[in-house]
Amino acid sequence: MKFLVKTYGCQMNVRDSEAVVALMKAAGHEQAATEEDAELVLVNSCTVRDMAERKAIGKSGNLASDGKIVGLMGCAVKRLGEDAFRKVKGLSFAVSPRRIGLVPKIVADGVYPRLELDDGDEIPTGLDAHDVSGFKAFVTILVGCDNRCSYCIVPDVRGHEYSRPAAEVLAEARALVARGVKEICFLGQSVLRYGRRTPAWPDADAAWTEPFPRLLAALCEIEGLERVRFTSAHPKGCTDELVRACRRFPQVCRHIHLPVQSGSDRVLAEMGRRYTRAEYLAAVKKLRDFDPEFAVTTDVIVGYPGETEADFEATRSLMEEAQFDNAFVFKYSPRPGTRSAALPDDVPVAEKERRDQVLLADQEARGLKRNQMLVGTVREVFAEGPSPRNAARWSGRDSGNRIVAFPPPPGIRAGDSVSVRIVEAHPQILVGEAV
Ligand code: 5AD
Ligand code: SF4
Repeated sequence: MKFLVKTYGCQMNVRDSEAVVALMKAAGHEQAATEEDAELVLVNSCTVRDMAERKAIGKSGNLASDGKIVGLMGCAVKRLGEDAFRKVKGLSFAVSPRRIGLVPKIVADGVYPRLELDDGDEIPTGLDAHDVSGFKAFVTILVGCDNRCSYCIVPDVRGHEYSRPAAEVLAEARALVARGVKEICFLGQSVLRYGRRTPAWPDADAAWTEPFPRLLAALCEIEGLERVRFTSAHPKGCTDELVRACRRFPQVCRHIHLPVQSGSDRVLAEMGRRYTRAEYLAAVKKLRDFDPEFAVTTDVIVGYPGETEADFEATRSLMEEAQFDNAFVFKYSPRPGTRSAALPDDVPVAEKERRDQVLLADQEARGLKRNQMLVGTVREVFAEGPSPRNAARWSGRDSGNRIVAFPPPPGIRAGDSVSVRIVEAHPQILVGEAV
C-alpha cells in the first residue's frame, strides 16, 4: 500500500515517524512521494500545547474526508483515547507512542476502527528500526518522563521513564555507522537521566560512575563515528563526569539544549523544576568554563499562571546572564490533567504575546552578538546540502549546532566535513568561506 507519514512535534516524534517508515517498508509497503499519491496517511501527533494538538487533529480530519485511510499516532492519541475517533471523523486507527511497532500489523489486519493504547509502563516496540539515507541518525535511548513538571502533559502521554539497555543502544549505533552514519544524536525527554530509573548497564565500571557519560564514552569508541549529540537535558545532569566525557572525546558536540522555562525562583518552584535560578546558571557556567564557545540553547514559557511582571523580568535577566545562543519561547497553554491546569490561566493572551515578543527581540540581539564573536574563527562544518535560503550556498552545522552557510567547494557532497572561516554573522546563521 502507498503510505505517507506526516509529523508534528519534537524530535522524538520525528524519530518515531522514521522508525514507522522503516517498519512499513520492511512489510512491503511503498512510501508515497506526495499526499495525493498516498492511500494511507499516518499522522504523528503532538499534544504539548493545545495548538499543536489541533493541527494534527485538523489535518487528520481533512485527510479522512478526502477519502484517505488515516492512522493517528503519537502523543495526542494517548491523551484522547477513544475520543480520537469522535474528533476525527472517519479515522481508521489510532496508536499511542509505545505501540508504534504495531503499525504494520494493524495495516495488515485491516480491521477498523482500531485503538492501540499503551499503559505507560510497557517497553516500547519499534524503536530500533531505521530509515536513514543521510549521514545523521537519531537513536532513542530513553522514553517517557517521571519529572511531572506542573504544566507538562508528556508524562501522561509518553509514560514512565525507561532507559534502553546500553548493549541495545550501542549495537544499533554500530549498525548505523556501518551503513555510513557519521553523526548520532541520542534522544530522550531527559537524556541525562539515562540509566537512573531503569538499569542500563549490567555491571559497574571503574572509569565512569554515571550511566550517561559512560554511554557517551562507549559510543565514542565506535570507529567512523565522528559526531555525537544528545537532547534534551536537565541541569541536574550537568555533572563533572559529563564535562569529563566532553573533554575526553572531541566527538561529543559542544551544544546542549537545556530548557530553563523560567528565571524566577518562585515560578520554578511552582513548576516543580527542581532547580533554582542559581543552580541553572551554575550548570551553564560549568559548560562555558570548559569551553567558552559551548552553545547553550533553551526553552522558555511565558504567561505561566500567576507570572507577574517581576517574574517575567527575572526570566529576561536570566536569559541575558546565561547568554543563550538560541531560545524557543512558548506561550503557556493549560493541558488537561496537569497540575497547573487547576490554576487560573490568568495572564491575558495579549500580555503573553507581548512577553513572547520581548524575549524574542532580546534573543535576536543576543544571538547576533554571540555569533559576531565567532567571526574570523574557522569552524568544522558537516555539509548538509544547498542552503534553503540561498541556493548558491550550501549550509551545514558546526559542533555547536550553529547553521553555517558557505559557497560550495567543487565536488562537495552531503556529509563532507568542511573547514569554514566565518566572515559574517546573523542572529540565526553564520556565513563563511571554505578554507
Ligand atoms: N504550555 C506552553 N509550553 C509548554 N511546554 C511544555 N508544556 C507546555 C505548556 N503547557 C514547552 C516547554 C518545553 C517545550 C517542549 O514545550 O518549554 O520545554
Ligand atoms: Fe514531543 Fe511532547 Fe509533542 Fe509528544 S507532546 S511530540 S513528546 S513535544
